[in-house]
Amino acid sequence: ALRGSFVPKAQKANQKSQNGLQPVASYKVAILGAAGGIGQPLALLIKMSPLVSALNLYDIANVKGVAADLSHCNTPSQVQDFTGASELGNCLKGVNAVVIPAGVPRKPGMTRDDLFNINANIVKTLVEAVADNCPDAFIHIISNPVNSTVPIAAEVLKQKGVYDPKKLFGVTTLDVVRANTFVAQKKNLKLIDVDVPVVGGHAGITILPLLSKTKPSVNFTNEEVEQLTVRIQNAGTEVVEAKAGAGSATLSMAYAAARFVESSLRALDGDGDVYECSFVQSDLTDLPFFASRIKLGRKGIEALIPSDLSGLSEYEEKALEALKPELKASIEKGIAFLQKQP
Ligand code: NAI
Repeated sequence: ALRGSFVPKAQKANQKSQNGLQPVASYKVAILGAAGGIGQPLALLIKMSPLVSALNLYDIANVKGVAADLSHCNTPSQVQDFTGASELGNCLKGVNAVVIPAGVPRKPGMTRDDLFNINANIVKTLVEAVADNCPDAFIHIISNPVNSTVPIAAEVLKQKGVYDPKKLFGVTTLDVVRANTFVAQKKNLKLIDVDVPVVGGHAGITILPLLSKTKPSVNFTNEEVEQLTVRIQNAGTEVVEAKAGAGSATLSMAYAAARFVESSLRALDGDGDVYECSFVQSDLTDLPFFASRIKLGRKGIEALIPSDLSGLSEYEEKALEALKPELKASIEKGIAFLQKQP
């Protein structure tokens, strides 16, 4: 029920611990790209989770210091560092959840698709190692372009014979976090209560906030819908421009990914009320991958939530049709990248 925010869950866990009912820290999490702008704050937030017993940090450089630093926090998880390809396998053995923020971020003037050439290879290599070492893990892909890197990951896992579409997630949580924040600001609502499903994909017009499905129920004027939708779609670029060459969203992204990973761990732990939006293999539209709300369980996706796509406003119906060609092309580009490999 507490979809709206990462914080209440942490508070809930603390309350449990005061009653002597602290959840047993028993899950192993690996972050690949852990020394980066997203990786570091994400590692810190995951280090705070009462559900994590081991936190394995992997990067091609600079990860030793990050791990030494974090290891001094007196929370349950044991932190270990792994540097370079020769240590990647050990990083992944026995891991329940993998998070991948490895790769280059955008600079002003770049689209997420401009990152394709570099990040496609990084994701391919890392997911191959996941397939070899922890094929049962929940896999959370942050590296952009998510609309293509998730299909790449799926193809890699298929080639390795271990693809479970219920356990492969493109992380679009930041779009939901932004939508919740902007709607709460605009409508003067209590942040913690607001939940806006965001569907489609994770780039430009493929990001479709379903404002008509906002909880609590809110009325928007046509101008407000247009303004909010465009702001949510371009929020990443807002940060890229403000950082002026120093990268893209890292802190809000880490917050959003930590929320998703915590949801995955709660689902693994048997919580029967866990929902997130994610870019996943889907039959809700004619596209093979699509972001929507999903219900998470011990085995990954328990259900997609098709009702979100019925009864859309006219604006949303049009936007949904408009995003499909771009999203389709990005998905096909990812699949083709893998099929072209020798
Ligand atoms: P960054 O450049 O600060 O960090 C990337 C890290 O990946 C670096 O530490 C680098 O050493 C590491 N890395 C590079 N190649 C690697 C490899 N082969 N194996 C392991 N690690 C490797 O970048 P930042 O800001 O952390 O962004 C990372 C990615 O996340 C980018 O692709 C960015 O576009 C994406 N992103 C996704 C968002 C989403 O909503 N899904 C939001 C914001 C960023």
